[in-house]
Amino acid sequence: MLKTIIQERRSIKKFNGQPVAAADVTAVLEDAAWAPNHGNREPWRFVVAAENGLTAIRETLKECTIPKWNTLSPEELEQKTAGFKLPGAFVFVVVPEDPRQKERLEDFSAASALIQNAQLLAWEKGIGTCWKTPPWIDAPKFRQALGVLPGERILAMVQFGYYDELPKAKARTPISEKITYFS
Ligand SMILES: Cc1cc2nc3c(=O)[nH]c(=O)nc-3n(C[C@H](O)[C@H](O)[C@H](O)COP(=O)(O)O)c2cc1C
Repeated sequence: MLKTIIQERRSIKKFNGQPVAAADVTAVLEDAAWAPNHGNREPWRFVVAAENGLTAIRETLKECTIPKWNTLSPEELEQKTAGFKLPGAFVFVVVPEDPRQKERLEDFSAASALIQNAQLLAWEKGIGTCWKTPPWIDAPKFRQALGVLPGERILAMVQFGYYDELPKAKARTPISEKITYFS
C-alpha cells in the first residue's frame, strides 16, 4: 500500500556494500519519470554509476571531494573515503537551470517529485536510498567529471543500496501544527 511505503521508507545512510544492478536502477528511474512536470518538459537527466561504474565514481569522489587528499596519509584517506565504498549504486540527478525563475522553480520541483518516486519505488524492491546534497555538489571539478554543462545543475546525489539495519524514524510533527486554515 502506498501509504505504508511512504511511512516506512527511511533514508539509508549505512549500506552493506552489495552492488545494485544497473537494470534495477534504470527500472526505478523509468517508473519514477511519471512524476508531474509542467509543460511535460521532463526537466531531468541522470548520471548513473553502477556495476563497472562504481570503481570509477569512487575514484572521482575521492579526487573531487577531498581537495587536499594528496596530503593525507593512506590511512586518513581510507578513513575519509570509506563511506564511498558502501552504496551499491549512485544516481546524480541533473536539471536544467532555466533562466526564467518560474520555470526553474517548476523544473527543480518536478525533479524532486521524481526523486521521491524513485525512493519509494526502490524501497518497494527492497533497495534503500539516501538523497544527498553534499557540500561539493556544485564544485566545478566534480561537475566537469560528471559531464555537467553550463546551464545545468546537479540537484541531488541519490545513493542506492542494500542494508542490514533499518534506521528508526524521527517522529513527524503533527500536521495540525503545520496547517493554517484560511478563512
Ligand atoms: C533535499 C534533501 C537533501 C538531503 N541531503 C542530505 C545529505 O546531504 N546528507 C544526508 O545524510 N541526508 C540528506 N538528506 C536526507 C535527510 O537527512 C532525511 O530525509 C531526513 O533525515 C529524514 O529521514 P527519512 O528520509 O528517513 O524520513 C536529504 C534529504 C533531502 C530531501
